Amino acid sequence: MTKETLTVTDNRTGRTYELPIMDGAIRAMDLRQIKVNDDDFGLMSYDPAFKNSASTKSTITYIDGDKGILHYRGYPIEQLAEKCTYLEVAYLIMYGELPTQEQLSKWENEITYHTLLHENIKQLFEAFRYDAHPMGMLISNIAALSTFYPEAKNVDDPEIREVQIKRLIAKMPTLAAMAYRFSMGFPINYPDNDLTYTGNFLNMMFKMVEPRYRPHPVLQRALDVLFILHADHEQNCGTNAMRSVGSSRVDPYSAMAAAAAALYGPLHGGANEQVLRMLTAIGSVKNIPAYVERVKAGEFRLMGFGHRVYKNYDPRATIIKEIADQVFQVTGRNPLLDIALELERIALEDDYFVGRKLYPNVDFYSGIIYQAMGLPVAMFPVMFAIPRTVGWLAQWVEMLVDKEQAIARPRQIYLGHGRREFLPIEQRG
Ligand code: CMC
Repeated sequence: MTKETLTVTDNRTGRTYELPIMDGAIRAMDLRQIKVNDDDFGLMSYDPAFKNSASTKSTITYIDGDKGILHYRGYPIEQLAEKCTYLEVAYLIMYGELPTQEQLSKWENEITYHTLLHENIKQLFEAFRYDAHPMGMLISNIAALSTFYPEAKNVDDPEIREVQIKRLIAKMPTLAAMAYRFSMGFPINYPDNDLTYTGNFLNMMFKMVEPRYRPHPVLQRALDVLFILHADHEQNCGTNAMRSVGSSRVDPYSAMAAAAAALYGPLHGGANEQVLRMLTAIGSVKNIPAYVERVKAGEFRLMGFGHRVYKNYDPRATIIKEIADQVFQVTGRNPLLDIALELERIALEDDYFVGRKLYPNVDFYSGIIYQAMGLPVAMFPVMFAIPRTVGWLAQWVEMLVDKEQAIARPRQIYLGHGRREFLPIEQRG
């Protein structure tokens, strides 16, 4: 009979330990009993960048990176992207089940109710330089919201939590659109609550002087799908920031500002912006081979390629490619698509990329779609942050109610100086 244990022999002492294996993992704390002597702190595991450490148990998102599988609460991403609206999926991610019609209508009403921002937020936007990056403005304003809702600090009160969750999901598109309108020098558009979540976002972004903005149904649907694809992705850098910062029991606005800041980075949600800049810099299909050679020489990375978890393909990239065709029928073809397709073709035939299992990720094509929709490149990470809000919040609640969790506080391996005596300044150097 097989035993769900791991037998470890410490060759320093010759002692053997039997560690339980649960859910495919050993507990790092079980290593601490492994000591050379009584004064020894005990064995730790060293895992920079968490490459093989589970920081939590979760029931939200399942990824099988080798098979290219992504599920939210058990449902395949392909089915959700085909059949649901973003708010339907947001409900699923947040509460664990797909909503009934009644639950969905109530949820949509509640989100719609909270779309307006306090008017003072406008002054915060006005304080930024005229060319401020919209993601910088978004991050700051998410944090600022905590000052408008001081009760949000009661993170252990489920009812107070619920209100903040709805506020954040509702206000993120409004904040994002405001960041865009300010960066363009356009007047702000207020929400139109007769429109859907994504339709209203398009309204707040693009309405000019027409009395009523009518979102194009294909673009509205495309945005729903893009938002669904970005809604959660288990323990990525931004989500880890949300959980880690939230573990100090700070309010969700402050924790989410940290998550959004993590997302901004070019290796994370900022990659879609970098992809566009890269495709524009390549400029023409004929320049691709030389560009790929420079990537292989280690000069820079091919943005939108590779993933910590997906080592086969990113299923979100496949769905996005289909959406791109539908969007381009409305907006006209983005000329950068030809460069992207050829770059993908060349890379996928090249031993460098094949050997390292580097495939296009979600960000490789999303930026091309957003650009075709009329969004400036700097807005792309913002477009990632809006739908990821629900993922962050669901993971945050999961962390708060998990009795095994505590303030996130990793250990270190100290390799610096041993104790030494202070030197007065005249004796140094
Ligand atoms: N272009 C060229 N080489 C790459 C790339 C790339 N995009 N990504 C990884 N490599 C190489 C890397 O140099 C290394 O090679 P070697 O073994 O010779 O040193 C090998 O592949 C393994 O790379 P790694 O850095 O150990 O892989 P990682 O799992 O730590 O990094 C990643 C994952 C997404 C940060 C990385 O693939 C990358 O930087 N990609 C470009 C940025 C990007 O598109 N990010 C968006 C990710 S999807 C959206 C999201 O979830 O945020």
